[in-house]
Amino acid sequence: MGRSPPLVYFGADARRIARVLPPPPRFGPFRLEEHGPGDERVREAWPGVFAASFGRRAGEEAWRATLLEHPQYEVRRTALLLDGTAAIGTMSTAVARRNPSVGITHALGILPSHRGQGLGRKLLLWALHDLQRRGVERCEGESRLRHRESILMHYDLGFRPKLRLDPWNTPDPSPWPAKAAARARQVAGYAAWRARARGRGGQDGRGGRDA
Ligand SMILES: CC(C)(COP(=O)(O)OP(=O)(O)OC[C@H]1O[C@@H](n2cnc3c(N)ncnc32)[C@H](O)[C@@H]1OP(=O)(O)O)[C@@H](O)C(=O)NCCC(=O)NCCS
Repeated sequence: MGRSPPLVYFGADARRIARVLPPPPRFGPFRLEEHGPGDERVREAWPGVFAASFGRRAGEEAWRATLLEHPQYEVRRTALLLDGTAAIGTMSTAVARRNPSVGITHALGILPSHRGQGLGRKLLLWALHDLQRRGVERCEGESRLRHRESILMHYDLGFRPKLRLDPWNTPDPSPWPAKAAARARQVAGYAAWRARARGRGGQDGRGGRDA
């Protein structure tokens, strides 16, 4: 099996996010269920949604590894988004085990059949409201560059690239040149996002120390 591409990280002060955070989302005809990550309902439904969203196999082991026994993140809440009785999306909130004042947006996925209608963005809003209610001081996420839409959605909501890791972040075993190249692409992507945001007269455009 090939090595995964490097992780990229992003984050922002919770206060900065609160300044741009739209009100809690409404899901229209869809229904949001909130659970503890270990609930039976999550054990049953989550692997299927995760597998279909990320295009990979996932069973009970993936549920355990991602939601219950993640080495860096302690998952607090898992959302299942339902179309009728079928789960079509999921997202979790977590705190960093080594620094619980840092909230994490974790494992967002929408089934391919339901993409492009704003549901992914709404699940991210749900997660950010959940983390704000928990009183975290900072919000962070990690991903791979191929998950471009998710990374851009985070930038829209105040996140910036995080280039220097803290002890609570997931370490990345990629060789240094690959990591440096991924970070350079992330910085370029953020600059392009900022230019577009300025063009729209949108929020931010101010840059930041970790951008
Ligand atoms: C990322 C993901 C959750 C987005 O879900 P979604 O419901 O399609 O997202 P949204 O409809 O809320 O769109 C969010 C942004 O993505 C883009 N986008 C998504 N689908 C699109 C489509 N079919 N056509 C055009 N743009 C699209 C848009 O830019 C949109 O931004 P906008 O609000 O400025 O228009 C979904 O693509 C997914 O599950 N991907 C695989 C797993 C993944 O990447 N998870 C995140 C890892 S960190």
